[in-house]
Parts: sequence; C-alpha cells; structure tokens
Amino acid sequence: MALLELRDITRTFVNDQVETKVLKGINLDVEKGEFVSIMGASGSGKSTLLNIIGCLDRATDGTYVVNGVLVDKLSENELADMRNREMGFVFQSFHLLKNLTARANVELPLIYRGMNGEERKTRAIKALERVGLGHRMDHYPKQMSGGEQQRVAIARSIVGDPSFMLADEPTGALDTKNTWNVMELFYELNKKEGITIVMVTHDTQVAHYADKIIWLVDGVIDRIEVVTEDKRNKVRAKAAMVIAEAKAKADIDMVKNGASEEHSPTDKKANSVESATVVKEKEKEQKEKKEKKWFLGKKKQVSATEQKKPVLVADNKANIDESDVNIEAKDNIEEANKHE
Ligand SMILES: Nc1ncnc2c1ncn2[C@@H]1O[C@H](COP(=O)(O)OP(=O)(O)O)[C@@H](O)[C@H]1O
Ligand SMILES: [Mg+2]
Repeated sequence: MALLELRDITRTFVNDQVETKVLKGINLDVEKGEFVSIMGASGSGKSTLLNIIGCLDRATDGTYVVNGVLVDKLSENELADMRNREMGFVFQSFHLLKNLTARANVELPLIYRGMNGEERKTRAIKALERVGLGHRMDHYPKQMSGGEQQRVAIARSIVGDPSFMLADEPTGALDTKNTWNVMELFYELNKKEGITIVMVTHDTQVAHYADKIIWLVDGVIDRIEVVTEDKRNKVRAKAAMVIAEAKAKADIDMVKNGASEEHSPTDKKANSVESATVVKEKEKEQKEKKEKKWFLGKKKQVSATEQKKPVLVADNKANIDESDVNIEAKDNIEEANKHE
C-alpha cells in the first residue's frame, strides 16, 4: 500500500453557474520516502491537485487514501487533525507570522497539538538546526533574507515529524542562489532523513531534484518521468556552481562593504514566469484562505477570553501552558483565526 493513493480524482469549480473542470481523473500513488515533483503550465491544475493531497480542499469525485485512511469521509475537524499530524506545508510566500521570532514560528504547529512549552522549544531549536538556521532562532522574519525565511518555513513544516511534506512553488519567490540552497535542503531531507516530499514547481531544473516528475496537462497526468540519478546529479552540479559563485561574490562584497547580502529582504526571482501571471483577486483570496488552513487547525481549538488573555486549547483537550506562549504569539494566532 502506497503512502498516498489517489483514484479517479476530479475537481470541478462552480462559480456563477459556470462549471470549470480543473482535474479530470487523476490516478497517482506516492510511496513512503519518495520525492515527487508536479510540473505543468500555469493553470494546468497543479495547486488544485496539491490542495487535495494536502486535505485543504476536497475532490469532487474519486477516492483519496492517506496512510491507509480514506480521507473522503473525514469531517473538517478530522481533516484538520490529519493535516497537523501527517503533513508539513511549504508555500511560495513563506507565511511566517511577522511578529514572531523564527523559533516561535516553528513552534506554531506544536501549539495546536497541545505540546508543552519545553518540548516545543527543544523541537523547534532542533528543526531550525536541521535547516542550518541555529544562529537565527531569535530573528524576526523581516530581519532575514527570503531564502532564510523559506528555511524557517521548512523547519516549521518538519518540526512535528510529519509523514510527508507538501510544497507549492517553494522556490517561486527566491533568487537563483536561494533556490538551489532550498532545493539542496529538500534533497537532504528526502535522501538523508527519508522524508516523503510532493512538490509543485514550474521550473524544470527544480523538478529534477525529485525521483519522478508528474507532468500535468489540462487537468490530466500526461506522463510520469522517472529522473535518473545521473540527470539529478547534473542539475545538482550546476546548482553547486551557482551556490559557490554566489558565496564567492558575497565574500568579496563583505570585504568591500563590510556587510553580507544575506540580510537583503528581497529575493525576488528576476525572470520568474509565474510571478508575472495575473491571478484573479477572488481566486487569490480563496487560495490564501486555503493556505492559512494548515496551521489554523480546528476552529474551536483556539479561543480568546474577554480580557485579551487568550487561552489556547489543543485538540486533545490538553490546555497549553499559557506562560509558554508570548502575548504576541497569542495575538497573532487570534489574528490568523479571524481571517478564516
Ligand atoms: N476556486 C476556484 N474557482 C474557479 N476556478 C478555479 C478555482 N481555483 C482554481 N481555478 C482554476 O483552475 C485552473 C487551475 O488552477 P491551479 O490549480 O491554481 O493551476 P496551477 O497551479 O497549475 O497554475 C485555473 O484555470 C484556475 O483559474
Ligand atoms: Mg499554482
């Protein structure tokens, strides 16, 4: 039995009585430990498919099984639980809470599990060390480069030891150097730690970090490309060159200016195809709402008292030790909940 099993999955959106068939019968197995890329033109249904795999959206038809559990029949709360326990999410736009430090951001999924403060802290530190950010624990997102912020998001996605990681265009907002740094990190998490990864990208080079590439065309799987180790090594060799060049340049700049470009907050990819795509406002809003879902969990899990002293209640009815969560964190969780 595969870790993820999708059978005849369809997804049709109905807006103003207009039907849009986006996914038209997807059959896909993802094995434990596999690294799978989903490629395709803009609008081919990649994000729609990933949202279904991540239980952020439901299929119109077909069946979906995660780790032996039939997802179709689960309630919203059960889905929220499944997302929190089984999956880690990484998005193009990082989705870090700006008033929280890197460590506090990484702790968030554990708060929703009702884990105590000490264990959360230990785990968050370990996760940040795993992504090479042990020295940035107490930094706020705006003090970090885009590449670092994405690594914080990756740490947050793995902190709870999920069965698998889902990433939607994880390098879409990064410059070349950070793109390859993030991909090398994915590679390491997959090959050394055995984390299963399903990643959407429209970048062919990025896609070749995976074991296989699912090519989506107009809502159907056109073909599945197996990536040979030789091919992957070629892509990684190019990446290594870019990283080395960028590092040499940064070293020279540092000597010249006494500052590192690591602190630059903008890592916008210059010639990103997708970044130029105009996304309809309504769809964008829906997307953001969907993406927020992953860490919001059950609606009733987090509630506030009248005195602006929120009490965090986790799924297993265990109360979170309030003293462990700073007021900013609580306010941010509240703010996030309001958006749902
Ligand atoms: N909520 C929605 N309502 C209507 N159409 C949607 C909705 N979400 C996505 N679509 C449409 O589905 C198609 C595929 O979207 P998406 O999965 O985001 O594509 P990709 O990620 O491959 O660029 C697009 O034509 C998009 O306009
Ligand atoms: Mg997309």
